[in-house]
Amino acid sequence: PLIDRLFNARKTEIDLARKLGIERTIIVPGDSDLQDLVYERMGEELNAALDLLLPLGHSIITVLGGEALAKSTRNLSKSLSKNRQLVFVPGRGALGENVAIQSNTIVQEMAAETGGKYKTLYLPEQISSAAYKSLIRESTFTDVLEDISQTDVVIHGIGLAHDMARRRGYDSVRLSELREKKVVTECFGCFFDGEGKIVDRVHQVGLQFENLNKIPHIFAFACGGRKAKAIKAYMPNAPHQTWLITDEGASEKILKEK
Ligand code: F6P
Repeated sequence: PLIDRLFNARKTEIDLARKLGIERTIIVPGDSDLQDLVYERMGEELNAALDLLLPLGHSIITVLGGEALAKSTRNLSKSLSKNRQLVFVPGRGALGENVAIQSNTIVQEMAAETGGKYKTLYLPEQISSAAYKSLIRESTFTDVLEDISQTDVVIHGIGLAHDMARRRGYDSVRLSELREKKVVTECFGCFFDGEGKIVDRVHQVGLQFENLNKIPHIFAFACGGRKAKAIKAYMPNAPHQTWLITDEGASEKILKEK
């Protein structure tokens, strides 16, 4: 079973983890740029890793959005809920993008697959700070924000900066500003350049990048040769306890580069 394999990391997985400065990587065969099956495999690996790491009893799992995660939720299983009470919460409010890949949708699917519970956070993603301050006093929001602050696990994607900026409706002026700042990757609303420096940021409700350090288990979920540079640029910022679940398409490219 997959869970046994997790005790024995392969050499390439160890090499990749070392190169990226994180605790563990899990590499599935193939390249998601060419084969959709890769996402299912990654979902199975995520399931096994959660089964290995989560204690019995109550756990809060905070999930961010994105295509990679949305395509992998079906491979989580009910076995995860054996002797566990899992609550899936979205890492942030609704994004003005496709409903299918929003964190609010993904938590519902993960809860359905595992037999866990979920909460939703339907707050606009980019709002003025005055509106933000008054909204977060509402009890429906304080409850979820409290869960996020006490989360045991975070599962997130890693995006290519320009794809993410376009998805978030940046106009051509802001897109060219980002180009000038040489942004490569986006994660948790932060845009990082090739050196891993935050050069732009969207104010968003929910999990903040600065609070990741104290979270016991973090899973980054990103794959495909196209994403290699985004993964590489984000990882110097990732807390050491991060596990990257990826594919050969991305890992071969990262390992080849200096
Ligand atoms: O929207 C959440 C998120 O984790 C972003 O921070 C990240 O850039 C993106 O997902 C990656 O998503 P995808 O799998 O669609 O590239």
